[in-house]
Amino acid sequence: MFTLAHLSDPHLAPLPRPAPSELLSKRGLGYINWLRKRRLIHRADVLETVIADLKTQAPDHIAVTGDLVNLSLTNEFAPARAFLTRLGTPADVSVVPGNHDAYVRSVANFAVRDWGDYMRGDRGESFPYVRRRDRIAIVGLSTSLPTLPLAATGRLHGDQLARLGDILTALEREGAFRIVLIHHPPIEGMSRFRHLHDANNFREVLRRHGAELVLHGHNHEASLVWLAGTWSAVPCVGVPSASGAPDRHHDEPAGYNLYEIDGEQKAWRCVLIQRGWCDGSIREIGQQMLFG
Ligand SMILES: [Fe+2]
Ligand SMILES: [Fe+2]
Repeated sequence: MFTLAHLSDPHLAPLPRPAPSELLSKRGLGYINWLRKRRLIHRADVLETVIADLKTQAPDHIAVTGDLVNLSLTNEFAPARAFLTRLGTPADVSVVPGNHDAYVRSVANFAVRDWGDYMRGDRGESFPYVRRRDRIAIVGLSTSLPTLPLAATGRLHGDQLARLGDILTALEREGAFRIVLIHHPPIEGMSRFRHLHDANNFREVLRRHGAELVLHGHNHEASLVWLAGTWSAVPCVGVPSASGAPDRHHDEPAGYNLYEIDGEQKAWRCVLIQRGWCDGSIREIGQQMLFG
Protein backbone atom coordinates (compact mmCIF):
# COMPACT_ATOMS: atom_id res chain seq x y z
CA MET A 1 0.00 0.00 0.00
CA PHE A 2 1.16 3.52 -0.82
CA THR A 3 0.08 6.44 1.36
CA LEU A 4 0.01 9.96 -0.06
CA ALA A 5 -0.64 13.04 2.06
CA HIS A 6 -2.11 16.11 0.38
CA LEU A 7 -1.95 19.54 1.95
CA SER A 8 -2.41 22.93 0.37
CA ASP A 9 -2.45 26.69 0.75
CA PRO A 10 -0.33 27.07 3.92
CA HIS A 11 -0.04 30.85 3.21
CA LEU A 12 2.95 30.88 5.53
CA ALA A 13 2.87 33.30 8.45
CA PRO A 14 4.19 35.57 9.78
CA LEU A 15 4.38 37.79 6.73
CA PRO A 16 7.79 39.53 6.54
CA ARG A 17 7.61 43.32 6.62
CA PRO A 18 7.38 44.49 2.99
CA ALA A 19 9.90 46.97 1.64
CA PRO A 20 8.09 50.23 0.73
CA SER A 21 8.91 49.68 -2.94
CA GLU A 22 7.22 46.26 -2.79
CA LEU A 23 3.88 47.86 -1.97
CA LEU A 24 3.79 49.91 -5.18
CA SER A 25 1.91 47.17 -7.00
CA LYS A 26 -0.91 44.70 -6.52
CA ARG A 27 0.90 43.83 -3.30
CA GLY A 28 -0.30 47.10 -1.71
CA LEU A 29 -3.93 45.98 -1.76
CA GLY A 30 -2.88 42.48 -0.77
CA TYR A 31 -0.99 43.84 2.23
CA ILE A 32 -4.05 45.75 3.45
CA ASN A 33 -6.09 42.57 3.04
CA TRP A 34 -3.46 40.64 4.98
CA LEU A 35 -3.45 43.12 7.88
CA ARG A 36 -7.25 43.35 8.04
CA LYS A 37 -8.22 39.73 7.47
CA ARG A 38 -5.83 37.10 6.23
CA ARG A 39 -3.33 37.28 9.11
CA LEU A 40 -6.19 36.16 11.36
CA ILE A 41 -7.11 33.27 9.04
CA HIS A 42 -3.67 31.76 8.39
CA ARG A 43 -1.92 30.91 11.66
CA ALA A 44 1.58 29.54 12.09
CA ASP A 45 0.61 27.64 15.25
CA VAL A 46 -2.24 25.88 13.46
CA LEU A 47 0.10 24.88 10.63
CA GLU A 48 2.55 23.50 13.21
CA THR A 49 -0.22 21.30 14.62
CA VAL A 50 -1.04 20.03 11.13
CA ILE A 51 2.61 19.24 10.34
CA ALA A 52 3.08 17.45 13.68
CA ASP A 53 0.04 15.27 12.95
CA LEU A 54 1.14 14.60 9.38
CA LYS A 55 4.53 13.41 10.63
CA THR A 56 2.87 10.89 12.95
CA GLN A 57 1.05 9.43 9.93
CA ALA A 58 4.39 8.82 8.14
CA PRO A 59 3.06 8.99 4.56
CA ASP A 60 5.17 7.61 1.72
CA HIS A 61 4.91 10.91 -0.14
CA ILE A 62 3.53 14.42 0.38
CA ALA A 63 1.81 16.62 -2.24
CA VAL A 64 1.59 20.39 -1.73
CA THR A 65 -0.70 22.22 -4.16
CA GLY A 66 0.44 25.80 -3.94
CA ASP A 67 -0.07 29.17 -2.25
CA LEU A 68 2.89 28.62 0.04
CA VAL A 69 3.37 32.38 0.35
CA ASN A 70 1.07 35.39 0.41
CA LEU A 71 2.26 38.44 -1.52
CA SER A 72 5.34 36.89 -3.17
CA LEU A 73 7.52 39.28 -1.18
CA THR A 74 11.21 38.72 -1.86
CA ASN A 75 11.67 37.59 1.75
CA GLU A 76 8.84 35.04 1.67
CA PHE A 77 10.53 32.52 -0.61
CA ALA A 78 13.36 31.39 1.69
CA PRO A 79 11.01 30.63 4.65
CA ALA A 80 8.84 28.66 2.21
CA ARG A 81 11.89 26.65 1.21
CA ALA A 82 12.55 25.97 4.90
CA PHE A 83 8.93 24.84 5.31
CA LEU A 84 9.34 22.35 2.45
CA THR A 85 12.62 21.11 3.90
CA ARG A 86 10.82 20.37 7.17
CA LEU A 87 8.18 18.39 5.30
CA GLY A 88 10.77 16.23 3.56
CA THR A 89 13.36 15.94 0.84
CA PRO A 90 12.57 16.98 -2.76
CA ALA A 91 12.33 13.26 -3.58
CA ASP A 92 9.55 12.80 -1.01
CA VAL A 93 7.58 16.03 -1.50
CA SER A 94 5.97 17.16 -4.77
CA VAL A 95 4.91 20.79 -5.14
CA VAL A 96 2.93 22.81 -7.67
CA PRO A 97 2.71 26.61 -7.30
CA GLY A 98 -0.42 28.72 -6.75
CA ASN A 99 -1.46 32.22 -7.74
CA HIS A 100 0.03 33.71 -4.53
CA ASP A 101 3.41 32.20 -5.45
CA ALA A 102 3.60 34.41 -8.56
CA TYR A 103 1.69 37.41 -7.23
CA VAL A 104 3.49 40.01 -9.35
CA ARG A 105 5.46 39.80 -12.57
CA SER A 106 8.85 40.79 -11.10
CA VAL A 107 9.04 37.61 -8.99
CA ALA A 108 7.14 35.21 -11.27
CA ASN A 109 10.16 32.89 -11.52
CA PHE A 110 11.14 32.94 -7.82
CA ALA A 111 9.14 29.81 -6.90
CA VAL A 112 10.90 27.75 -9.55
CA ARG A 113 14.24 29.35 -8.64
CA ASP A 114 13.94 28.59 -4.91
CA TRP A 115 11.77 25.45 -4.78
CA GLY A 116 12.62 24.03 -8.19
CA ASP A 117 13.85 20.66 -6.99
CA TYR A 118 10.43 20.06 -5.39
CA MET A 119 8.77 20.85 -8.75
CA ARG A 120 10.80 18.75 -11.16
CA GLY A 121 10.19 15.35 -12.70
CA ASP A 122 12.37 12.27 -12.36
CA ARG A 123 14.13 13.28 -15.58
CA GLY A 124 14.58 16.86 -14.44
CA GLU A 125 11.70 18.17 -16.55
CA SER A 126 9.48 21.12 -15.65
CA PHE A 127 5.68 21.31 -15.92
CA PRO A 128 4.07 18.97 -16.62
CA TYR A 129 6.53 16.96 -14.55
CA VAL A 130 6.20 13.24 -13.88
CA ARG A 131 7.43 11.44 -10.77
CA ARG A 132 7.13 7.66 -10.48
CA ARG A 133 6.95 6.20 -7.00
CA ASP A 134 6.13 2.50 -6.80
CA ARG A 135 2.94 2.06 -8.88
CA ILE A 136 2.09 5.73 -8.43
CA ALA A 137 2.69 8.45 -11.02
CA ILE A 138 2.50 12.08 -9.90
CA VAL A 139 1.92 14.63 -12.66
CA GLY A 140 2.54 18.25 -11.62
CA LEU A 141 0.97 21.19 -13.49
CA SER A 142 1.45 24.93 -13.02
CA THR A 143 -1.45 27.38 -13.25
CA SER A 144 0.56 30.06 -11.49
CA LEU A 145 0.72 33.38 -13.33
CA PRO A 146 0.70 37.03 -12.22
CA THR A 147 -2.80 38.51 -12.53
CA LEU A 148 -4.42 41.94 -12.28
CA PRO A 149 -5.37 43.33 -8.84
CA LEU A 150 -8.39 41.54 -7.31
CA ALA A 151 -7.97 38.59 -9.69
CA ALA A 152 -6.83 35.16 -8.49
CA THR A 153 -7.21 33.29 -11.75
CA GLY A 154 -4.91 30.69 -13.28
CA ARG A 155 -3.96 29.28 -16.64
CA LEU A 156 -2.13 26.15 -17.80
CA HIS A 157 0.53 28.28 -19.48
CA GLY A 158 2.95 27.18 -22.16
CA ASP A 159 2.43 23.81 -23.82
CA GLN A 160 1.30 21.94 -20.69
CA LEU A 161 -2.16 21.04 -22.00
CA ALA A 162 -0.77 19.93 -25.35
CA ARG A 163 1.65 17.53 -23.61
CA LEU A 164 -0.61 16.34 -20.80
CA GLY A 165 -2.71 13.95 -22.90
CA ASP A 166 0.27 11.97 -24.21
CA ILE A 167 1.76 11.83 -20.71
CA LEU A 168 -1.45 10.44 -19.20
CA THR A 169 -1.81 7.86 -21.96
CA ALA A 170 1.81 6.71 -21.62
CA LEU A 171 1.39 6.33 -17.86
CA GLU A 172 -1.79 4.34 -18.36
CA ARG A 173 0.11 1.93 -20.62
CA GLU A 174 2.63 1.51 -17.80
CA GLY A 175 -0.22 0.57 -15.45
CA ALA A 176 0.35 3.53 -13.14
CA PHE A 177 -2.10 5.11 -10.70
CA ARG A 178 -2.09 8.63 -12.14
CA ILE A 179 -2.38 11.56 -9.72
CA VAL A 180 -2.57 15.06 -11.20
CA LEU A 181 -1.59 18.01 -8.99
CA ILE A 182 -3.00 21.42 -9.91
CA HIS A 183 -3.56 24.53 -7.77
CA HIS A 184 -6.77 25.90 -9.32
CA PRO A 185 -9.84 23.63 -9.18
CA PRO A 186 -10.52 22.46 -12.77
CA ILE A 187 -14.25 22.39 -12.07
CA GLU A 188 -17.32 24.24 -13.29
CA GLY A 189 -19.01 27.01 -11.37
CA MET A 190 -15.96 28.97 -10.18
CA SER A 191 -16.11 32.78 -10.05
CA ARG A 192 -14.46 34.42 -13.06
CA PHE A 193 -12.17 36.28 -10.65
CA ARG A 194 -10.81 33.01 -9.22
CA HIS A 195 -11.26 30.42 -11.93
CA LEU A 196 -8.91 28.42 -14.14
CA HIS A 197 -9.17 29.98 -17.60
CA ASP A 198 -8.66 26.69 -19.44
CA ALA A 199 -10.60 24.42 -17.11
CA ASN A 200 -12.81 23.22 -19.99
CA ASN A 201 -9.77 22.19 -22.01
CA PHE A 202 -8.25 20.44 -19.01
CA ARG A 203 -11.45 18.44 -18.44
CA GLU A 204 -11.50 17.48 -22.13
CA VAL A 205 -7.94 16.10 -21.86
CA LEU A 206 -9.01 14.19 -18.76
CA ARG A 207 -12.09 12.81 -20.54
CA ARG A 208 -9.99 11.56 -23.46
CA HIS A 209 -6.91 10.31 -21.61
CA GLY A 210 -8.08 9.63 -18.04
CA ALA A 211 -6.42 9.80 -14.64
CA GLU A 212 -7.14 8.19 -11.28
CA LEU A 213 -7.07 11.28 -9.07
CA VAL A 214 -6.90 15.08 -9.39
CA LEU A 215 -5.81 17.04 -6.30
CA HIS A 216 -6.16 20.80 -6.00
CA GLY A 217 -6.12 23.70 -3.52
CA HIS A 218 -7.12 27.38 -3.91
CA ASN A 219 -10.65 27.26 -2.43
CA HIS A 220 -9.51 26.53 1.14
CA GLU A 221 -12.31 24.01 1.61
CA ALA A 222 -12.84 20.29 1.46
CA SER A 223 -14.56 19.23 -1.77
CA LEU A 224 -15.05 16.22 -4.01
CA VAL A 225 -16.26 16.50 -7.61
CA TRP A 226 -16.27 13.57 -10.04
CA LEU A 227 -14.98 14.48 -13.51
CA ALA A 228 -15.43 12.45 -16.69
CA GLY A 229 -12.52 10.09 -17.41
CA THR A 230 -11.91 7.06 -19.61
CA TRP A 231 -12.48 3.74 -17.84
CA SER A 232 -13.82 5.46 -14.72
CA ALA A 233 -14.90 8.88 -13.44
CA VAL A 234 -12.05 10.81 -11.84
CA PRO A 235 -12.32 12.10 -8.28
CA CYS A 236 -11.21 15.73 -8.11
CA VAL A 237 -10.50 16.59 -4.48
CA GLY A 238 -9.80 19.87 -2.68
CA VAL A 239 -8.52 20.42 0.87
CA PRO A 240 -8.82 23.26 3.40
CA SER A 241 -5.85 25.55 3.92
CA ALA A 242 -3.25 23.79 6.06
CA SER A 243 -3.08 26.89 8.29
CA GLY A 244 -6.79 27.76 8.51
CA ALA A 245 -7.70 29.13 11.93
CA PRO A 246 -10.46 27.19 13.69
CA ASP A 247 -12.34 30.27 14.86
CA ARG A 248 -12.74 32.16 11.59
CA HIS A 249 -15.87 31.68 9.56
CA HIS A 250 -14.48 32.82 6.23
CA ASP A 251 -12.61 29.57 5.57
CA GLU A 252 -12.81 26.03 6.86
CA PRO A 253 -10.49 25.11 9.75
CA ALA A 254 -7.17 23.53 8.84
CA GLY A 255 -6.90 20.00 7.56
CA TYR A 256 -5.27 17.69 5.06
CA ASN A 257 -6.04 14.42 3.32
CA LEU A 258 -4.43 11.01 3.23
CA TYR A 259 -4.87 8.57 0.34
CA GLU A 260 -4.25 4.86 0.88
CA ILE A 261 -3.71 3.35 -2.56
CA ASP A 262 -3.48 -0.33 -3.35
CA GLY A 263 -4.36 -2.81 -6.07
CA GLU A 264 -3.66 -2.61 -9.77
CA GLN A 265 -4.95 -0.99 -12.92
CA LYS A 266 -8.75 -1.09 -13.26
CA ALA A 267 -8.84 -2.80 -9.88
CA TRP A 268 -7.46 0.01 -7.77
CA ARG A 269 -8.37 0.44 -4.16
CA CYS A 270 -8.14 4.01 -2.89
CA VAL A 271 -9.39 5.29 0.44
CA LEU A 272 -9.59 9.03 1.17
CA ILE A 273 -9.03 9.87 4.84
CA GLN A 274 -9.73 13.42 5.93
CA ARG A 275 -7.85 14.73 8.94
CA GLY A 276 -8.96 18.09 10.32
CA TRP A 277 -9.15 20.40 13.27
CA CYS A 278 -11.20 19.09 16.18
CA ASP A 279 -11.04 20.50 19.73
CA GLY A 280 -7.50 21.85 19.47
CA SER A 281 -5.88 18.98 17.62
CA ILE A 282 -5.96 17.26 14.25
CA ARG A 283 -7.97 14.04 14.06
CA GLU A 284 -9.61 11.85 11.47
CA ILE A 285 -12.91 13.55 10.56
CA GLY A 286 -14.01 11.49 7.60
CA GLN A 287 -13.24 8.51 5.42
CA GLN A 288 -14.47 7.57 1.96
CA MET A 289 -13.71 4.76 -0.46
CA LEU A 290 -12.96 6.32 -3.87
CA PHE A 291 -12.11 3.04 -5.64
CA GLY A 292 -12.47 -0.47 -4.43
FE1 LIG B 1 -4.88 30.02 -1.22
FE1 LIG C 1 -4.94 30.24 -4.71
